[in-house]
Amino acid sequence: MLNIALPKGRLGEKVLFMFEKAGFECPSIHENNRKLIFENPECGVRYFWVKPSDVAIYVERGAADIGVAGKDILLEYQPDIYELLDLNMGKCRMAVAAKNGFRDDPKRTLRVATKFTNIAGQYYLSKGRDIDIIHLNGSIEIAPILGLSDVIVDIVETGTTLKENNLSVIETIVPISARLIANKSSYKFKSEEIETVVRELATQTEA
Ligand code: PRP
Repeated sequence: MLNIALPKGRLGEKVLFMFEKAGFECPSIHENNRKLIFENPECGVRYFWVKPSDVAIYVERGAADIGVAGKDILLEYQPDIYELLDLNMGKCRMAVAAKNGFRDDPKRTLRVATKFTNIAGQYYLSKGRDIDIIHLNGSIEIAPILGLSDVIVDIVETGTTLKENNLSVIETIVPISARLIANKSSYKFKSEEIETVVRELATQTEA
């Protein structure tokens, strides 16, 4: 049985569609209920819905053999997993944003609000810029508006959230997309099943 951690939400629904199209169907997952684990012994799959930011933890620790996680989470937490395939979906970018018209004063420590403290820390370290990191858990866009920070490091997809809050991107750090990941020992012991998934999903991402 292949244990698959899916990110709960819109991206997860699309990913599930891809897995089912690849032949790993699971009719019970479409029943309207609040269950979180579904299996189909005929196809040899067990799916579970988890918080998107937790997928890599399930996979790293072997509770799931494979899963789908955003590159943002992989960069931020550096889980000890294999990254097998770029699914070319859930595309967005990690960016620095600030209030419209913001001018950086290099003589002052830059206050950076973010959920992604490691990504932000590494980025500014590589630029040799002194920063004060303010870790927040959500609604990051509020920080510069209220004067809590000078800039934010966050995910930008359509740019609507920034625009509606009079903020704009000042630098792009890295493009982000959803990745198929695998537990390292599962990849050894269930290599055939996992390789089948990779092959099937790859044909869909190429198409
Ligand atoms: C992300 C991000 C922005 C928003 C950007 O939040 O933190 O707030 O999406 O999208 P946009 O460019 O299309 O407006 P998400 O919805 O993932 O929730 P979060 O507040 O938990 O980060």
